[in-house]
Amino acid sequence: MIESLTFFGGGNMASALMGGMQKAKRSPETLRLVDPDARVRQIWSDRYGAACFPNPEEAACRSEYWVLAVKPQQMRDLCLSIAAQEICLHPEDPRSEQPGSHGVISVAAGVRIASLAQWLGASHRYIRCMPNTPALIGRGVTALYADQPLDDRDKTIAQSIMDGVGKSLWVLEEVAMDAVTAVSGSGPAYVFRMMEAMQDAAQDLGLSAADARLLVIETLRGASELAEQSALPPAQLREQVTSKGGTTAAALAVFEAEDFSGLIKRALSRAAARSAELARHDEAK
Ligand SMILES: NC(=O)c1ccc[n+]([C@@H]2O[C@H](COP(=O)([O-])OP(=O)(O)OC[C@H]3O[C@@H](n4cnc5c(N)ncnc54)[C@H](OP(=O)(O)O)[C@@H]3O)[C@@H](O)[C@H]2O)c1
Repeated sequence: MIESLTFFGGGNMASALMGGMQKAKRSPETLRLVDPDARVRQIWSDRYGAACFPNPEEAACRSEYWVLAVKPQQMRDLCLSIAAQEICLHPEDPRSEQPGSHGVISVAAGVRIASLAQWLGASHRYIRCMPNTPALIGRGVTALYADQPLDDRDKTIAQSIMDGVGKSLWVLEEVAMDAVTAVSGSGPAYVFRMMEAMQDAAQDLGLSAADARLLVIETLRGASELAEQSALPPAQLREQVTSKGGTTAAALAVFEAEDFSGLIKRALSRAAARSAELARHDEAK
């Protein structure tokens, strides 16, 4: 059970996380929200009973755990204003062995723990999480990373927050977060691009827009669920639906001729490199 939790930023991702906790009956005993938007504060007060603040003032920072859920480009300013609060120097948390030790959970894409520690102070216990957009409907997948051995409670709490919006896994090296960003973080956009292309092609073949949409969405959903439930790897599932000289073989031959695997590898490598580049840009500040 989380005794006290402050969300900094109450937008899409934070609302999904809080909604997930509420649904799983894991709401913290004391919930606080910091968000400059009065409408967002009203929603959090009505829906979740949060004590709301427009700025990260002293009383807002009193929680044992903090979830940082602002946009990556807003993170530096937010951290510097939290670090300026007295509570960071003299915490009320009785579990803290050092001044200012809070459990800090960041969901910001591409912001490394070294940057957070530089802005917010090195004494906190940091966990970096990379959820993806389907978290907004409770079907996300999140990778978590901590740069120091965490006690079980910190680990369980971070994971319980993320489990409310889908599945989760821990990675052992922070560099793996760049790969996670390239695979699952940006991944939904690749799937949407594939949907777009398949729907266009379906309409070119004479199907209506509504039929094309239904066929494509259900095919992607059904294939994903089949792959999840099957003990066979995707390559074998593909072989099972590809008879020699048939329609699927004809389509896959076009994919191969265009180096489909190479294209995907190049795209993901580019995304991972960009993730590392953006994180380095933050560290230079
Ligand atoms: N949405 C996703 O699917 C997704 C997926 C993976 C990771 N993430 C990560 O989640 C984080 C939040 O994304 P989001 O989509 O939820 O963004 P969002 O909907 O824009 O929410 C961010 C909220 O933070 C508020 N805010 C800005 N500065 C603040 C400050 N100094 N103190 C407190 N609150 C502040 C914003 O208010 P204003 O609008 O007034 O600026 C806004 O209400 C990002 O770092 C993103 O990388 C999101």
